[in-house]
Amino acid sequence: MIYSRIAGTGRYLPERILTNADLEKMVDTSDEWIRSRTGIEQRHVAGENELTSDLCVNAAKVAIEEAGITVEDIDLIVVGTTSPDLIFPNIATIIQHKMGIPACAAFSIEAACTGFIYALSSADKFIRSGDTKCALVIGAEIITKLIDWDDRSTCVLFGDGAGAVVLQPSDEQGIISTHLGADGQYKDLLYYPVGVSSNLAAAGTGDSRIMMSGNEVFKVAVKTLSAVAQEALDANGLSLEDVDWLIPHQANLRIIQATAKRLDMPMEKIIQTVQIHGNTSAASVPMALDVGIRDGRIRRGQTLLLEAFGGGFTWGSVLLKY
Ligand code: COA
Repeated sequence: MIYSRIAGTGRYLPERILTNADLEKMVDTSDEWIRSRTGIEQRHVAGENELTSDLCVNAAKVAIEEAGITVEDIDLIVVGTTSPDLIFPNIATIIQHKMGIPACAAFSIEAACTGFIYALSSADKFIRSGDTKCALVIGAEIITKLIDWDDRSTCVLFGDGAGAVVLQPSDEQGIISTHLGADGQYKDLLYYPVGVSSNLAAAGTGDSRIMMSGNEVFKVAVKTLSAVAQEALDANGLSLEDVDWLIPHQANLRIIQATAKRLDMPMEKIIQTVQIHGNTSAASVPMALDVGIRDGRIRRGQTLLLEAFGGGFTWGSVLLKY
């Protein structure tokens, strides 16, 4: 049986840090409000000339080095993002060219904050089918370019970053199962109102900002994230005691806490980065994974449950042995 196994990880955060104190000078908010409602203390914001592909390249370089491979080994690139450099060509091909990766399949997936989980699940299927020998899987966003910096209800939540993973075939157990889902009836609760076939003329105007019903999103997020974790466990006949680390999408500390409570999972077994990264959408799970690996909490042989939830709504999980 072929498994796909994580051979290396990496992350990259833009240099500029925006603190809650900085935001107090921009909108009518306070550090106390942001911390108590979201847990967020700071977020990274990309520079004006920085592109999402630049963040991806920096994260991917680290993952490639950690995996002990070269760019010549890569034969698939999958990127989850909602904020690509361009509408086309897809960002995976831009990354491929920037990194000198030889011709191979390269595509991006748009599933909002669940983008990385969708990308990892897809790459897993390519590897298990035998089609792919080495996949570069990235979750990345420069979501702050979609922010209306006058809208205090959304501008305090988001940040930029990229997380990358190198995935290779292995006889040893790696990814155990993946579960993806979506329900388009919730579109109006969280969306960005500019696209190609609708409202293109509104791009860059005051009408183009993230539209979100915070309270409603909160409730569905908690319900879905706990159900998604349970689904992965049930499918494998496991219980939460069998999981060493839960790595959920980092949208809001209160969402993570409420999910943990519903699951009866101790917060000590949950990797948390929302405090220092904010909500980085598709980048949040791979960056949290990398943080846990680098600081030595996540070790080889441990069982990890990755899960995310985002606009659409979309959701998904990846259960794996690291
Ligand atoms: N600073 C100060 N006050 C703020 C504020 C800010 N940044 N943003 C909103 N407020 C105000 C509101 O205007 C409202 O004031 P009012 O009662 O006078 O009308 C008050 O705070 C309460 O707003 P409310 O929306 O009820 O707060 P909340 O406890 O639901 O927290 C969120 C708001 C956005 C933090 C919370 O709903 C949330 O995190 N939702 C999920 C969002 C998310 O994760 N989205 C991405 C999913 S992938």
